[in-house]
Amino acid sequence: MPLLDSIGRTINYLRLSVTDRCNLRCSYCMPEDGIKKSAHGDILSYEELYRIARTAVSIGIDKIRITGGEPLVRKGIIGFLQQLAEIPGLEQLVLTTNGVLLEKMAADLRAAGVQRLNISLDSLKPETFRQISRCGDLARVMAGIEAAQECGFPIKLNMVVMRGVNDHEILDFAALASTSATTVRFIEYMPAIREHNWQRHVVPGTEILSRLSRQFTLIPLEQAAAAGPARNFRIPGVPGTLGVITPVSHHFCSECNRIRVTASGMAKGCLFDGSQSDLKPALRGGSDLHLAQALGAIVDSKPVRHQMTPEECHHQAFSMASIGG
Ligand code: 5AD
Ligand code: SF4
Repeated sequence: MPLLDSIGRTINYLRLSVTDRCNLRCSYCMPEDGIKKSAHGDILSYEELYRIARTAVSIGIDKIRITGGEPLVRKGIIGFLQQLAEIPGLEQLVLTTNGVLLEKMAADLRAAGVQRLNISLDSLKPETFRQISRCGDLARVMAGIEAAQECGFPIKLNMVVMRGVNDHEILDFAALASTSATTVRFIEYMPAIREHNWQRHVVPGTEILSRLSRQFTLIPLEQAAAAGPARNFRIPGVPGTLGVITPVSHHFCSECNRIRVTASGMAKGCLFDGSQSDLKPALRGGSDLHLAQALGAIVDSKPVRHQMTPEECHHQAFSMASIGG
C-alpha cells in the first residue's frame, strides 16, 4: 500500500545521511570555519542506519539515497551499502557524492549494488573549483567521474549555479551532455546557510533556461512519475540530457515524495522546516514498531510547502552537510 502524507502525496523516497563530515568545504554549504560536527556518540551506527532503512521500506519507502556530508568518507560504507541493497522491497539504492574518493571506490560501489550516482560538480576550471570547494582538486573529481562511467554507472552531475562565481560556465556544463550520456542538472543556489546578501547569487531557473536556449534546442522531456524536482530537457542528436532544479523561484513541494534522516538520527519531512523528530529513543530502547511509528509521524507532519522566496525565507541557517543535500 502506498505511504501517503496528510495531503495525499505518496512518500516513497528516503534520503539517509551516513555522516556529517566532508572532505570539501563548499561555500554554499558551510561557513568558512566549517560546521559544528555531531559528537561521535550521536552519529548512528551502521546497525541503526540499517534498521531505519529496513523499517522505512516496510512502511512503503522503495528508494533510498545515501548522502552526507560526503558518504564515501565514512569507514565501512561499502559493506553497509551491500546490506542495504539486499533489503527486500528496496527497488532503488542510489548515492550522492562529491566525487573526490570515487576513482578508488567506484567499482566497489557498483559491486555493492548502488544503481546510480549523483555527483556534485560546480566548475570545470581548477581555480574556480578550488575557490568554491575551498580545498578541492578538480582533477581528482574528474578522474572519479571517469572511473564511475567506466564501471557503467548512470550519472547525474549537479551544478549549483552562482551568479558571478560559476554562472559563466553554464554552457560548458551543458556541452558535457553532448559528449556522453550524462544528465547535467543546474540547481538554483539556495540560502541554506543564510549568508549576508545571498540573493545576489541566485540565477533563477528561467534565466538558466533562456541562456541555454540561445545555444541549444531544448525539448522538454515528459516527467516520469516521482522523477524528483528537476524539469528535464533533451537536445536533439546528443546522448545526455539537461535538468533545472528551482527550489527558490518555483517550489516543487506539491510533488515532493521524500523524507530525510540525518546521520544523528533526526528525521525531517522537509529540508526547510525546523521541526524534526529524534529517532534515537526508538532505535536505542524501542521496538521496530516504535521506529515505524516515528517515521510515520514524520510523513504525517510533512509541511505542505517550503518558504524560500527572498521575502519569506524564515528558516534557521543550516548546512546541507548536516542534513544531507
Ligand atoms: N544550494 C543549492 N544546492 C545545494 N546543495 C548543497 N547546498 C546547496 C545550496 N545552498 C546541493 C549540491 C550538492 C548536494 C549535496 O546538495 O548540489 O551537490
Ligand atoms: Fe561537502 Fe557536499 Fe557540502 Fe560540498 S556541498 S561541503 S561536497 S557536503
